[in-house]
Amino acid sequence: MKEYLFKNARIIDPARNIDELGSIGVSEGKIVAPESLETPEIIDVGGKVLCPGFIDIHVHLRQPGNTTAETIASGSKAAAAGGFTSIVAMPNTNPAADTAGAIELLRRTAEKEAVVKVLPCGNMSKGGKGEEMAGIGSLKAAGVVAVSDDGKCIQDHALMRHVVEYAKSFDLPILDHCEEVTLAAGGVMNEGKWSVLLGMNGIAGASEELIIARNILFARQINWKIHMQHVSTAESVEMIRRARAAGIPVTGEATPHHLTLTDECVKTFDTNYKMNPPLRSESDRQALIRGVADGTITVIATDHAPHTATAKLVEFDHAPFGIIGLETAFAVCHTELVVSGVITLSQLIAKLTTGPAEVLGMKNYSLACGNPADFTILDTDLEYVINKNNFKSKSRNTPFDGRKVKGAVTMTVVDGRIVFRNGEII
Ligand code: DOR
Ligand code: ZN
Repeated sequence: MKEYLFKNARIIDPARNIDELGSIGVSEGKIVAPESLETPEIIDVGGKVLCPGFIDIHVHLRQPGNTTAETIASGSKAAAAGGFTSIVAMPNTNPAADTAGAIELLRRTAEKEAVVKVLPCGNMSKGGKGEEMAGIGSLKAAGVVAVSDDGKCIQDHALMRHVVEYAKSFDLPILDHCEEVTLAAGGVMNEGKWSVLLGMNGIAGASEELIIARNILFARQINWKIHMQHVSTAESVEMIRRARAAGIPVTGEATPHHLTLTDECVKTFDTNYKMNPPLRSESDRQALIRGVADGTITVIATDHAPHTATAKLVEFDHAPFGIIGLETAFAVCHTELVVSGVITLSQLIAKLTTGPAEVLGMKNYSLACGNPADFTILDTDLEYVINKNNFKSKSRNTPFDGRKVKGAVTMTVVDGRIVFRNGEII
């Protein structure tokens, strides 16, 4: 394997509180002391930022089941282009990833075809139907890093409590899509002023908040980790804030779209503004940003949800929920949160690295010597317009096409191999 010396880098390593100019050595896929290298290829980073590889704990790869929208290979390339070196694959494929066999297939395919690390997540319930528990022990043995019924939410509280107990005994974090279905039924956008004006059926914020309250209760009673996916309302943020202050092991994630867009966007009737949970009000968005800034929300995850153009090119009511996000996450968050002065660059990097690593129970996710050489290089000065036609993803369902942003991923390194450089997958 090639040895590299990445010199003249602004190294930002949140786990070790580092933000300084320096060099990183790479040998045998690991980070090593630069002095230990013999004849490395030298890469001058030119003062750009070098940070641990991003981890996205919320990605839909659509294989098996809808490989026209995305595959493990294409989704992994989109991840590399977005600076992500590890992604957690949601189990709502078709068939669902609810058995050891399905996880085995995902792992083998990823090993052959993926350019980043694909970490499997298994279902909590069989088929994600919320009726019977999946074989969580055999999923763990097959290599899942977490369990989730994302896309759906277990409504049977007794079953959910049982799942939390099992997940704890197998040391698996729970990633929960928090949605009480009767308060969401028939809804296509946020319930509020804009749903009334547009005459569309709303999804109440309370649908999410009820399940977050339930999960906080179970996390406390069972003393086990529950991570709330795509948190979208002010009340949800406040509940998580109070629970964490009380020492309850819950975490929350925000998506780039919930941090930057609101339900007003739906007035365009563009189905790239349709996702679940829906875009909320401006005051919810502000509360979410405050949650990110004050450490209540420790993770930014994309909920990369590819859908084909044909699937999305229908009336708003009929379109599927979901948008892609891997290739725009850093640029959008850097522009809207860092350039605008809400959080520091180091804080943003933490939400994309140490925050998600902690949810997965990964220890010492940093650029320390001996760790896998998974890292990302960022040009924080580059200004450009997002062009969906340049995406590596097979899908184009983004609301950010044409948006002016500042900040780009210029290189992604996985296990010491350069997998993405200046716009190209290598
Ligand atoms: O918008 C969404 N799309 N939300 C989800 O929870 C699932 C996802 C999908 O699978 O398309
Ligand atoms: Zn979800």
